[in-house]
Amino acid sequence: MNSFEEINLKGFIDEPIAADLDIVAEINKLKKEKNAVILAHYYQEPDIQDIADYIGDSLGLSQEAAKTNADIIVFAGVHFMAETAKILSPNKRVLLPDSKAGCSLSDSCPAHLFKIFKAKYPDHLVITYVNCTAELKALSDIVCTSSNAVQIVNSLPANQKIIFGPDKNLGAYVIKQTARDMVLWNGACMVHEIFAQQKIVKLKERHPEAKFIAHPECEEPILAMADYIGSTTGLLNYSINNPATEFIVATETGIIHQMEKANPNKVFIPAPPNNLCACNDCPHMKRNTLEKLYLCLKNELPEIEVPLDIIEKARKPIERMLDISARLGL
Ligand code: 13P
Ligand code: SF4
Repeated sequence: MNSFEEINLKGFIDEPIAADLDIVAEINKLKKEKNAVILAHYYQEPDIQDIADYIGDSLGLSQEAAKTNADIIVFAGVHFMAETAKILSPNKRVLLPDSKAGCSLSDSCPAHLFKIFKAKYPDHLVITYVNCTAELKALSDIVCTSSNAVQIVNSLPANQKIIFGPDKNLGAYVIKQTARDMVLWNGACMVHEIFAQQKIVKLKERHPEAKFIAHPECEEPILAMADYIGSTTGLLNYSINNPATEFIVATETGIIHQMEKANPNKVFIPAPPNNLCACNDCPHMKRNTLEKLYLCLKNELPEIEVPLDIIEKARKPIERMLDISARLGL
């Protein structure tokens, strides 16, 4: 068994696993014994998605974390998602298979700098995208996700002044959809800024019947080419409901697993990045593995802790988002 120092340093439990162990069966057994639930984001590895009790986008995962009866939530996602689950269910234990599974977008907005930025606009309401730290949420009035950002902004009075952070691309998309003049924080996601416009144009020429679908964290020139823009759940639903048989997908590649499962006769092509790396795989999401998930559930570590004062301040803007979403049927 590793020491706490070792786990903190590596981010996960590094323990040998017998080669003949049926990890899937063990995880299912441990889940029952411990009354644990596994919540997974669509960007996780397929084998993690396949063992999860619930797979979803950021909004769906928050809604699920708020209502689960489990004693332990194993969050197969990244740090800010597990933190959000802890804030919504502070009496439950929340585990993250690799505590170093972070987020470049969240990192692009340190709370101490945002506090200075916010002070410049004292009459503005602060809306933050859920992809941020608990400290940043504690400085916010309302949280949003990619599936409800437009509706949340539209639910506010037209003359309401707004600061939106940390994602400038989602912010610019929301401004376009709502015609609101929001002040934006200059943050972005490393995965969604990697798509190459010229390569997508060429790919579209080679697949003229394909629908090009994109996540709103992408930059404006990419979104301008899209037949559909939406959250991961939105993209998945579009792939199911649209009669097209080919789709070029501009988001993290993990979502393609569910698209292929739901549409066995359709073809999904990941949008190309601007170099030869696999940069549209999120290096943070992909830190989690089935082995780490098993060891995390077995040892109940690494565990997410959020200071009580931050939980209290961050819960209000998240609950405000959940209330507005419930009212709008999202
Ligand atoms: P959604 O799950 O809201 O589509 O967001 C995608 C994302 O980047 C999560 O990190
Ligand atoms: Fe963060 Fe981007 Fe990875 Fe989502 S895909 S977790 S926004 S770095």
